[in-house]
Amino acid sequence: MGVDDITRNNVILMVFCLTISIVEIEVSADASESLVSLQSDFWDWRMRNNPTSSTYDGMYKYNDLMEEYSLEEFQTKRNKTLDFLARLYEIEQDDLDIHEKVNFDILKDTLETFTEGNLWAEYGALSPISFITGIQLFGGPSFAPSATRGDFENYIARLYAVQKQVDGIKSLGRRAISLNRTLHNVSMTKVPEQIDEKIFDRPENSSYYSPFGDFLDNSHVTNDSDRTYIRNRGKEAVLAYMNAFRDLKNFIVNEYMPNTRKEYGVYAWDPSNEYYKACLKWHLSFDMTPADVHDVGLKEVDRITKEMHKIMSSLGFEGTVAAFFASLEDDSRFYTNDTVKILKAYNDTVFKRINPVLENYFRDIPDIPLNIEAASYDGLGGGYSSASETSPGVFSINLFRPLEVPLFETMVLSLHEANPGHHLQNSFSLRADLPDFRKNPILSFADVPNWFPIYSAYMEGWGLYSEYLGEEMGMYKDGYEMMGRYSYEILRASRLVVDTGLHYMRWTREEAILYLQNHTALAGGSAANEIDRYITWPGQACAYKLGEIKIKELRQRAERELGDKFDLKEFHYQILANGGMPMSVLERIVNSWIDTTKQSKPTSGSPCLVFGHTLVSVYCFISILFSIISI
Ligand SMILES: *[C@@H]1O[C@H](CO)[C@@H](O)[C@H](O)[C@H]1NC(C)=O
Ligand SMILES: *[C@@H]1O[C@H](CO)[C@@H](O)[C@H](O)[C@H]1NC(C)=O
Ligand SMILES: *[C@@H]1O[C@H](CO)[C@@H](O)[C@H](O)[C@H]1NC(C)=O
Ligand SMILES: *[C@@H]1O[C@H](CO)[C@@H](O)[C@H](O)[C@H]1NC(C)=O
Ligand SMILES: *[C@@H]1O[C@H](CO)[C@@H](O)[C@H](O)[C@H]1NC(C)=O
Ligand SMILES: *[C@@H]1O[C@H](CO)[C@@H](O)[C@H](O)[C@H]1NC(C)=O
Ligand SMILES: *[C@@H]1O[C@H](CO)[C@@H](O)[C@H](O)[C@H]1NC(C)=O
Ligand SMILES: *[C@@H]1O[C@H](CO)[C@@H](O)[C@H](O)[C@H]1NC(C)=O
Repeated sequence: MGVDDITRNNVILMVFCLTISIVEIEVSADASESLVSLQSDFWDWRMRNNPTSSTYDGMYKYNDLMEEYSLEEFQTKRNKTLDFLARLYEIEQDDLDIHEKVNFDILKDTLETFTEGNLWAEYGALSPISFITGIQLFGGPSFAPSATRGDFENYIARLYAVQKQVDGIKSLGRRAISLNRTLHNVSMTKVPEQIDEKIFDRPENSSYYSPFGDFLDNSHVTNDSDRTYIRNRGKEAVLAYMNAFRDLKNFIVNEYMPNTRKEYGVYAWDPSNEYYKACLKWHLSFDMTPADVHDVGLKEVDRITKEMHKIMSSLGFEGTVAAFFASLEDDSRFYTNDTVKILKAYNDTVFKRINPVLENYFRDIPDIPLNIEAASYDGLGGGYSSASETSPGVFSINLFRPLEVPLFETMVLSLHEANPGHHLQNSFSLRADLPDFRKNPILSFADVPNWFPIYSAYMEGWGLYSEYLGEEMGMYKDGYEMMGRYSYEILRASRLVVDTGLHYMRWTREEAILYLQNHTALAGGSAANEIDRYITWPGQACAYKLGEIKIKELRQRAERELGDKFDLKEFHYQILANGGMPMSVLERIVNSWIDTTKQSKPTSGSPCLVFGHTLVSVYCFISILFSIISI
């Protein structure tokens, strides 16, 4: 068969497939309409319940509302979620196309994860304030663009609503105290000073007053007496807002902190460990026992430590991992105070070293711009903010203390945050044109497992897999960069050990800190900070390593089953093309891809060419829809 014949056949078969697809779509109209309207109602309801996220996501109809905190809310949300589930179960799944089926499965998982987790509502969700979560840190009254009279009115309503939030938080906290289900004091010690940052002697000194300054003068409100009126009411509203925070601080310091739990782990709330298991499951999106998590952690730490020692010997260093990193501290090859130089190193790493080889490992790479910048606030070491239709993705590096930013970590951090890590992942999900409820995850780790899932194992598992893939891509240029890579990996592996250590095996905070110091590059203060995070958010830190292991398992299975037909670019495409999802759905997608590929002839470009009559309809459908998704 000549090339032309193949092409012609291809065209004929594609037309054939398309016809079948269209027929299928017509048949499935009811089911897909029901799904679309359910997705949209669900999203609107979530925006109504998370009005500050709604403003951020560009939906402005809830601009006068704030998130609510109350026991009754747990019930209301449960009832509403059960209603949504009932609607979902009525949809005839067989009538959905493969793309819709993925959305269906993810919506089902989203709703079911909430209803399962909601059974544990009166646990962590009773304590929405800690040093890493809460209204003193995020989700304050936000201001919508346009600045009309109505925008100022909405903003004033939001400032007043903070007292209602505080009243709710107090009633939840009192419930936690009465049930002996409070957080440990280490989760709270920094909170009073965080609250203090919201309180000023005069309203004009609060950043929450700033919209009533120049911004008001330049707004659509042009009448002077109206402006004065709004400004005076703004002052009163900011005063009320600050008073609400005084009230919150008083409650935290005088009622909550004296009643914090004595035990570090959440076994204190539930000695059967079912609560901890529910937290793990929520973060992982699959079941795994704490004992297994712990064992995997120990094995991984052991394996990585051995790798690190091999590299250290090859660099002529004798001693512990901690001693190795300490020996680099004064080395001008790895540390500089010059932030421009560090930023350029990151820029060159991404644009000159990584990007040119990406196309050997990925196909149909979306062309979404990426900026590399110094972080604007002193948070994590590095971060990625998603690109949108209108703005580029941003890889930000914390340069507040440049002498603590080792240049041997440049490669591993770039692989994780930029490419092929979160930026590439985000680029694919932008192109996948996901329904809103999948596009804009709303985070609230304090509420876990009484919350809708955000699929950390998929997101962060991919980030860590990207660090690994960098090795296959030949990105780490020497032993020092490899040590940077392993120092990142061993931290994620150690988290499995210490998270289960604290919450399941009843370790003390000191044991956990020592474990991190013994096995990772983290020194005193930062190790303690990490451990306090794990004490506060049970299970969260386990998503990274276990997600990566799951992705590697899927790849190994595909390689084993497909042999010569295994195509790495195609595998990566299967993982990325549909955006964030639970690992069970990802597994189903990979398995069905394995089955399809197995049955194809080794030389065929498209499965459509080679299938018998009955299979053609099914598989062409897949390939067409995947290409619709990917354009
Ligand atoms: C939730 O539904 C249950 C059972 O139908 C009902 O008893 C309860 O009052 C509802 N709660 C709320 C807050 O809507
Ligand atoms: C909480 O702990 C106190 C002191 O240990 C105990 O007296 C009380 O019964 C506990 N309350 C509950 C609801 O378990
Ligand atoms: C507080 O605001 C007043 C009036 O706007 C201003 O004079 C003063 O400098 C501010 N104080 C601080 C600490 O910013
Ligand atoms: C400004 O607004 C006030 C009160 O809303 C109104 O009485 C007054 O006539 C307005 N002035 C102008 C110049 O429009
Ligand atoms: C909690 O920490 C604060 C500040 O570090 C301390 O003053 C307080 O005594 C501690 N309370 C408990 C119950 O440990
Ligand atoms: C690093 O740079 C900062 C800002 O330019 C400067 O204040 C600081 O003294 C420098 N530190 C060292 C150790 O050179
Ligand atoms: C980063 O790299 C891009 C693309 O090569 C270039 O346009 C930009 O000027 C560089 N920025 C810095 C700070 O080096
Ligand atoms: C940390 O290392 C010290 C010294 O090697 C050892 O005694 C201790 O058991 C280790 N602790 C943990 C938690 O690994």
